[in-house]
Amino acid sequence: MTATGSIVRGIVAPHPPHLIYAANPPQNEPRSSGAGAWAPLHAAYQRLRASIAAADFDVLVVHTPHWKTHVGHHFLGVPRFAGRSVDPIFPNLFRFDYQLEVDVELAEAVRDEAAAGGLCTAMMRNPDFRVDYGTITSCHLVRPEWDKPVVCISSARTAFDYSNEAGDAEMLVLGQATRRAVERSGRNALLLASTSLSHRHFTEEPADPEDPRFEHIYNRNQALWDQRLLGLVRAGAGRQILDEMPDFIEQSMSECKDGGLSWLLGALGVPDYPGTVHGYGTVIGTGNAVIEWDPSAAAAAGGAA
Ligand SMILES: [Fe+2]
Repeated sequence: MTATGSIVRGIVAPHPPHLIYAANPPQNEPRSSGAGAWAPLHAAYQRLRASIAAADFDVLVVHTPHWKTHVGHHFLGVPRFAGRSVDPIFPNLFRFDYQLEVDVELAEAVRDEAAAGGLCTAMMRNPDFRVDYGTITSCHLVRPEWDKPVVCISSARTAFDYSNEAGDAEMLVLGQATRRAVERSGRNALLLASTSLSHRHFTEEPADPEDPRFEHIYNRNQALWDQRLLGLVRAGAGRQILDEMPDFIEQSMSECKDGGLSWLLGALGVPDYPGTVHGYGTVIGTGNAVIEWDPSAAAAAGGAA
């Protein structure tokens, strides 16, 4: 750990369980056919892992849309969790035995900063709590070694109960709180927004779920929204992304409604420097991109950190 912590990278890390299934890690019981439907996203994650291989970091901080909390923003607060995670929609693809360690001290620091910022918060202290598959999938795809502790943040329901604008306002406060806590803690952190982009998906599955002849964009309008958002990422237009986020969410049925991308942009200080899009691909028709922002590289190049 360093005296003053920092956000080493901000990463959009989508979590379709299909990507775990296709990779056949020993923790996952189902075996894939290897037909290759999701190769573009696997290649994107490979490029990301190569890009962060030399990075010095202590912890993964992940915001997940599949731990849904109706009263406030919750944080895992037990040092160790283990169990079997089964995807409720795709139990044929994802039955994953997980063990993960939690940086409880940092989780509590983020919670404290979020509470100081006016957000409703809670710590999850149940040692038998089943960690959601969004967290597990994103963490595995970014860091399959499982050698770093995590901080896991739930998805509060503000956008669903009130409006996209109200949800985003909270996520920006949560992002700023996360940044303050990381800096105070002395940790070097990778931040993971576990989220897809456009999210309309197929309702039928082929005999081989990994059949590449089946996989394609479901809705052209939504895919065009994805491309617009990725163009803004490449242009370093973080403020514009936030300005358009409520419409993007509504018109592409985006999983960003759960707040992960807005949280990440807030934690990064709303980047005005480009993010790297490592790749884009569909899973059951949804749009997914692996994106990396490197604040220190941007600062070295003369941009904002
Ligand atoms: Fe999801």
